[in-house]
Amino acid sequence: MFEKLGTAAKHIQSIYPTTPKVGIVLGSGLGAFIDSISDPTIIPYSEIPFFRNTTVEGHEGRLILGKIDNVEVAVLQGRLHGYEGLPMDEVVFPVRVLATLGIESLILTNAAGGINTSFIPGDLVVIEDHINMLGTNPLVGPNISELGPRFPDMTRAYNVDLKNILRDSADELKINIKSGIYCALLGPTYETPAEIKMLRAIGADMVGMSTVPESIAANHLGLKVCGVSCITNMAAGINDEKLTHDDVKIQALKVMELFSTLLSKAITKMNQID
Ligand code: HPA
Repeated sequence: MFEKLGTAAKHIQSIYPTTPKVGIVLGSGLGAFIDSISDPTIIPYSEIPFFRNTTVEGHEGRLILGKIDNVEVAVLQGRLHGYEGLPMDEVVFPVRVLATLGIESLILTNAAGGINTSFIPGDLVVIEDHINMLGTNPLVGPNISELGPRFPDMTRAYNVDLKNILRDSADELKINIKSGIYCALLGPTYETPAEIKMLRAIGADMVGMSTVPESIAANHLGLKVCGVSCITNMAAGINDEKLTHDDVKIQALKVMELFSTLLSKAITKMNQID
């Protein structure tokens, strides 16, 4: 695994030699954020050694390198999910490659169902913390000690400085940003109303099928991590609506402009901390 990371990173460096500072993973329907990148270099996952391609509609499967306001970024447009049948170490491989390239901070984004009834579709939510209900963990198996410790601390999985930067950026842009606990389930089914009741009882504010594996792998690597959920629907059973991936993508597109402005501002500020 460690050697594979080096091979993938070397290939990317041969195309784009500059070290990225901030990594970004784009969630369902949020791929248009890449329009904010100046002079983008685009590398399809299929051309990067050992990268698996995503099978999910709304996820492009491309790595984009370039600048946002003079900050070097590496953006994963299209993520891999456990429900695609991939082993967890393949799901987190792209994030580990970004770390090998040298990113210091990682912004995870996703489309999520709102469990907290004060949320509405279209809300942007800073991920305060997460609950892992995937039934697995990307660090299961022999520890790769070159990457990090056997038992990583997760008490501050979402970096306080980065969370503050997201909130300050939203304030400056007059975006009403919320905060919440993200819970990941394996999927690919959406949840039942009974499951949503259970998730609310254990303290979840929003639910999705991603983010947690990457967050765990990035914490293992010692990266600073933060996350933003885009609430695309109220979770199952909160209203009468059925859930569809098309509606999730449509709602994500609706907040695209706000989301891109927020992320761009936050990235500029992240460049100013060490
Ligand atoms: N549940 C799980 N994943 C999701 C949802 C949801 O309601 N909305 C967007 N991704």
